[in-house]
Amino acid sequence: PVKLNTKDVLSLEELSSEEVVALVQYAVELKQLHLSGQNPPLLEGKVLGMIFDKSSTRTRVSFEAGMLQLGGHGMFLSGKELQLGRGETVEDTAKVLSQYIDAIMIRTFEHEKVAELAKHATIPIINGLTDGHHPCQALADLMTVYEEKGTFHGVKLVYVGDGNNVCHSLLIGGAKVGLHVTAACPAGYQPSEEVVRTAQAIAAGTGAVIEVVEDPALAVQGADFIYTDVWTSMGQEEETKQRLAAFASYQVNDTLVQAAQPDYKFLHCLPAHRGEEVTAAIIDGPQSVVFQQAGNRLHAQKALLASLLAGETI
Ligand code: CP
Ligand code: NVA
Repeated sequence: PVKLNTKDVLSLEELSSEEVVALVQYAVELKQLHLSGQNPPLLEGKVLGMIFDKSSTRTRVSFEAGMLQLGGHGMFLSGKELQLGRGETVEDTAKVLSQYIDAIMIRTFEHEKVAELAKHATIPIINGLTDGHHPCQALADLMTVYEEKGTFHGVKLVYVGDGNNVCHSLLIGGAKVGLHVTAACPAGYQPSEEVVRTAQAIAAGTGAVIEVVEDPALAVQGADFIYTDVWTSMGQEEETKQRLAAFASYQVNDTLVQAAQPDYKFLHCLPAHRGEEVTAAIIDGPQSVVFQQAGNRLHAQKALLASLLAGETI
């Protein structure tokens, strides 16, 4: 495991550049072990509570399977069915759960709710997606970039579409490891200025390049990776119609990818909407690594869990 200087991971900002790179490398090691049939029981007897206020396939299953493979247990907790769903406070929930289990992964709407949980819990809190951030996704994304390129330096990743949670975490994570991240998003849907300022401040110390532009065709020039996500995130369903219009010229398709590097790779956090943010030809084509990327969620999160929970370096 990697020795980490933080109790919680809410946005990747809590981790140093060295810690993010070490986590990615550790995840690659755990993946090799797993593929050779070895699953070191680093978290024997440890329990992860997993609170979900939104749907999930990858996050839920990879965290639960990951805990089991590490010798521990992942416990699914529906936000609605907890007393939290009937108005018990986050603070009281944090104080109680801290005495039963060893860590909490939470997927919810407001980022502040996760910060509040982290403040009052004595155990590690992991953000499994909020409206603001998706740090576990970004760890798996960085791992995929590293597997493909063997380095982060001089690598250009272009995110096309909605400046959402996934985009935010890519900006911060990319800044930490020295990537060139360009977000191409329409006016009104650009990433939060605060996140961009934070990412640019981190980038100043790592050699990363962080930029936000409007024109996707210009942005993808020379891209090593093209990344997109859904145009309507969970909780925004009533905006679907206006979003379809706003993002109409941001589809990742054969025309858009022409200016990228010939060997560019396509990334998507999934779930995807073929025919909206990406065509089937691209996401199901030979340059798509989306299933490798989804698979890496398991290994990246195991690296994170083992590092947050196993304590001293083994
Ligand atoms: N990418 C991702 O977080 O997927 P789920 O919503 O299925 O967990
Ligand atoms: N931006 C998407 C990501 C899903 C994994 C959402 O928040 O719904």
